[in-house]
Amino acid sequence: MATRFSPKIALVGSGMIGGTVGLLSGLSSLSNNIVFLDVVEGMPAGKALDLAQATTCQDIQCTSTGCSDLSENSEGLKDADIVIVTAGFPRKPGMSRDDLLSKNAEVISNVGRAIGKQCPKAFVICITNPLDVMVSLLQKVSGLPTNRVVGMAGLLDSSRFRYFLAEALKVSVKDVHTMVLGGHGDAMVPVLSATSVNGIPLFTIIEMGMITQKQVDDIVERTRQGGGEIVALLKMGSAFVAPAVCALSMVQAYLRNERRIIPCCAYIDGKYGLKATYGGVPCIIGSNGVEEVLDLKLAGQEKEMFIKSMKDVEDLRANCRKLGFEA
Ligand code: LAC
Repeated sequence: MATRFSPKIALVGSGMIGGTVGLLSGLSSLSNNIVFLDVVEGMPAGKALDLAQATTCQDIQCTSTGCSDLSENSEGLKDADIVIVTAGFPRKPGMSRDDLLSKNAEVISNVGRAIGKQCPKAFVICITNPLDVMVSLLQKVSGLPTNRVVGMAGLLDSSRFRYFLAEALKVSVKDVHTMVLGGHGDAMVPVLSATSVNGIPLFTIIEMGMITQKQVDDIVERTRQGGGEIVALLKMGSAFVAPAVCALSMVQAYLRNERRIIPCCAYIDGKYGLKATYGGVPCIIGSNGVEEVLDLKLAGQEKEMFIKSMKDVEDLRANCRKLGFEA
């Protein structure tokens, strides 16, 4: 029995990220109405039962169900308030996120159609790669307003960058603030001009001798390869804990109308010199989903890197369209 006003969270794709989002949502009592969906027969029902028993152990009343059917008959997606989409194929060692394009475009098109029909008022967070193109496709196919379809990547990449910086500086992660923008690919842009340590700009921190420019450059590169580093270590599948926690932070910002500034893959039209596309930009997330895309004025090399990263996204989107998808 779900309490009346608890938001319904549907996890489309119940693998490692979806499963972890479910676990965290249940244990934090963010939702007591969680549905696991996955094409793999039985698996989502197993995850749902496992979660229900875990929340029981913590004295939390949580209704979690699982189903392997996205159609209207299953009611799995019906009237979901929040949908987290991770459905699709993950990367294997040596694969780039872009290598997943054609396989995952098919999956995302089916998911988008089902969301459009069954939960058109939902806030939808996509995590499937190649991220920016999949979010664009999902929004188009679902027909949901652009402010309610976003991608989770910028917060993850920013968390990786923060962590590496804090480790090198030997200071608390709490004091390191930064943003990684652009596409969620190898050309993503860790924005040094928007990086500070308890309010002190990173450039001043470099001048103060707490870190060298070379160390920062190496950390930028490690951040760009941050997902691949974990894929190579795990050997089966990709990072799942940090992606799940980051998605949950976005869900919290939405449900609690926190108006947090979060870098996410959002619809950009008329800002950053871009028209009608999706990419990683700082957004205010509140009860309307993306309340606002902030038009951060990048300059010099950072601007060039952002343009290059978004060109990669546009090229991939063109490839996706060539394959016959609406992206
Ligand atoms: C990563 C996946 C989630 O970067 O894109 O780990």
